[in-house]
Amino acid sequence: MNYAEAEKVLKSCGQEHALAFWKKLSKKEREQLLAQIATIEPKNIKYCQNALAKGAEVPDSSKGKAPKVAVLKGKKLAEAVAAGEKELAAGRVAALLVAGGQGSRLGYDGPKGCYSIGPVTNAPLFYFHARKVLARGNRYGAPIPFYVMTSEANNAATVKCFEDNNYFGLDKKDVFFFTQGMWPGMTKDGKIILDAPGHVFMSPDGHGGLLAALKRSGALADMKKRGIRSVFFFQVDNPLVEIADPAFIGYHVQERSEYSLKLCAKRDPFEKVGVPMQFGSQYRMVEYTEMTDEQCKRKGKDGKLYFLYGSPAIHVFDRAFLEREASKNMPLHLAFKKIPVVDGKGCVAKPSEPNGYKFEKFIFDILPNAKRAAFLAFDQKDEFSPVKNAEGADSPATCKADLQAKWLKWLAEAGVSVKKGVPVEIDPAYALDAADIKRIGLCLGAE
Ligand code: UD1
Repeated sequence: MNYAEAEKVLKSCGQEHALAFWKKLSKKEREQLLAQIATIEPKNIKYCQNALAKGAEVPDSSKGKAPKVAVLKGKKLAEAVAAGEKELAAGRVAALLVAGGQGSRLGYDGPKGCYSIGPVTNAPLFYFHARKVLARGNRYGAPIPFYVMTSEANNAATVKCFEDNNYFGLDKKDVFFFTQGMWPGMTKDGKIILDAPGHVFMSPDGHGGLLAALKRSGALADMKKRGIRSVFFFQVDNPLVEIADPAFIGYHVQERSEYSLKLCAKRDPFEKVGVPMQFGSQYRMVEYTEMTDEQCKRKGKDGKLYFLYGSPAIHVFDRAFLEREASKNMPLHLAFKKIPVVDGKGCVAKPSEPNGYKFEKFIFDILPNAKRAAFLAFDQKDEFSPVKNAEGADSPATCKADLQAKWLKWLAEAGVSVKKGVPVEIDPAYALDAADIKRIGLCLGAE
């Protein structure tokens, strides 16, 4: 893109002020600015301006009902597992990780997936995810392709982490990195913001940017070529997640669902998780911030919380559904933030109050578009303990304690006793569950 082309694009959407300092910029700064402008699509600028004019679209949670959530046991569980195992063995399952976020709330300067969480080895979050993908594929004799969404800020460091660790044992050809989009921030008048004379302020487009990025990068086409039907989605911050577990995959297939969600009983009425609700024939995710205190505390006839189940953001998507949704616009969520801005003279000022909007898309906003959705309950202790904060709830300390408790439970089930206080860590490629330990333990005993 050259200056004339940039000017034309910007003029078409009323943003020519982005070139205000052109004459003062060095050659390198000019190149960088043009590269940024080349990513700005006038239709997206208009889309953001519309979102600003309309305000955030928040579901009216007072009209929401609790959805029907399946709890699988006995024969039903066995049948779901068998259906999932068939899907896995046929090589129709992919793993999809959203890892575009930085560890800023953790005070960690890097991709969150590189954060050390192994209680013994200090292995990073990525290690546990990748080794589970590897083990699950090995167990069913069909590799699971692993799609990892990064952001501009962390793509290089993420790829390096995988390369430095020899892809954690995965075959490089089964790992597909792709980068989410960046959207410019805006003043409340719909003008993009320069945070330096030659730089437009841009921020990642949220985990919902996944759909556009899957399409743009060719990842969706790659899934199709590989014959993928069920796409297991998860977030980088939860090393307890049971990636592509057969019961969930199987239930999704049995229900002919387009979007399935694993849910767990909230640990307290105000837990900071999304809550799926039913509105007529549609389902929507309602964020905890969009619920009233009364709704959070409301009790059902059984005395339990009426909105008992929260979302740990563990989903299975039908690939064809993702394809259908990838060509649609998603709603935008607005965040009013303090954004550095240049003044008329080109000096950068850091505002003391919020002055501009960031725009984000959330993947669960496609839930209402699913022709069929399914909800499956599981025990939070077994599969959900995210690392979000440096201290307190959902911190490295609570996550490590939950990992330990899970592994110790498996070891106890396999008859292995561990001295109190001794840290344990189990490589997922060695044992994916208690049954694996029992099997390996028996082999060792027999030798
Ligand atoms: C999220 C969910 C919430 C859910 C909770 C479970 C939202 C708005 N809320 O909350 O419903 O109950 O997780 O832990 O998502 N990410 C990107 N690109 C981005 C932004 C985020 O890839 O632009 C990734 C992060 O790397 C992470 C995941 O998305 O893997 C979640 O992001 P985060 O900001 O941590 O979500 P939460 O607010 O904790």
